[in-house]
Amino acid sequence: MYFSSERNARLAAKLFQHIEQTTTDRLDGLLEYDLAIYTCPDTAKRERDKIFQKAPMMAAHSAQIPTPGSFITLQLNSSNVLLTRKQDGSVGAFLNICRHRGTQLVGAACGERSRFTCPYHGWTYSNDGKLRGIGFQDSFGIKPGDEQGLERGLVALPVEERHGFIWIVEDPKGAIDVRAHLGDGMDQALAEYGLDQWFHYKTHVFDFPQNWKVMMDGLIDGYHVQFLHGKTISPYFYPNMMGIEILGRNALWGNPRRAMEKIMHEPPGENSLDKFAIIGNLFVPNAVMVMHPHHIEFWTVYQDPNNTAACRVHLRYLTPSGDYDERITGILEKNWKIATDAIINEDVPVGNSIQASSATPNAGSVCLGRNEVTNQLFHLAYRDYMSA
Ligand code: FES
Ligand SMILES: [Fe+2]
Repeated sequence: MYFSSERNARLAAKLFQHIEQTTTDRLDGLLEYDLAIYTCPDTAKRERDKIFQKAPMMAAHSAQIPTPGSFITLQLNSSNVLLTRKQDGSVGAFLNICRHRGTQLVGAACGERSRFTCPYHGWTYSNDGKLRGIGFQDSFGIKPGDEQGLERGLVALPVEERHGFIWIVEDPKGAIDVRAHLGDGMDQALAEYGLDQWFHYKTHVFDFPQNWKVMMDGLIDGYHVQFLHGKTISPYFYPNMMGIEILGRNALWGNPRRAMEKIMHEPPGENSLDKFAIIGNLFVPNAVMVMHPHHIEFWTVYQDPNNTAACRVHLRYLTPSGDYDERITGILEKNWKIATDAIINEDVPVGNSIQASSATPNAGSVCLGRNEVTNQLFHLAYRDYMSA
């Protein structure tokens, strides 16, 4: 079961009530915003300063670098980052930039290597970021262990591993405190999930021609399913129905499946919700986790720093077991195809059309309804960051 039994019972009671009364969680009023937030270059610059450089980003799941010597590289908002599992088991996060002349140090997306040699002049770094070797060091003029050599280690980023995820702050001079960033409510929920014991099945990186906020809004929207996914996903769910726990600026929610009907004669909490609802999680500013019976979809969405009409999206599948036999692989691949087909064929084109509309001069404002709770939370948190 994903949750503590208290949370499971609480959410089940809420969803049962919504099904009986054909209702959904609602806020007090509408929220308006201007479509220009998707196109304005000044807004995008402020987002970089106030959000992407400052806030802890859920860069990876811990199982993406499972053992000492494992590494991945990934493109965050403005930085290409090298994440390593060091010999002592802790995580290192560094700008993927050689400190000699600035070449990208590591080209591979992932692998097992505890030393990294720059392709240009052969400088070598260990996976704790220290400079260990300099080509022709006598003629170059510094040694790895001398004062100047020690200063030429990789630029380290603030990093913290917590509840099975690796958070990074993109500004090397920044600070990180994941518990404070999450707030008590979401920190507690993540502790209940126990995802530090989970495994990483695979990752895919998508580039979509829409602003990162359009993509985020699509991932957390429960209102559109009956209309946009009428023939694909919608038949399995009660439409326009979400039971939500607001956890500070974050939230978790259940979308009840039609199958929930079968357990409604029992007390709420008698059954684990895993099979009867999809559980969603919003981690502001830019991550979403969708929990299914056999796997979790873990999404992160980054602004493209050069183009307000583009974003970079990482999708990872996490699983409770690392045993990927033929049967499990079959189930996961089938789910992967259903999810990515719906996103690529149905959600992304709508998001692209919002992006096109936003480029229309004087397109004006749009609004979120009382039932669009998760989207309102995202936009309120966004305003919070931007006005800080
Ligand atoms: S740029 Fe890396 S060794 Fe010269
Ligand atoms: Fe959708």
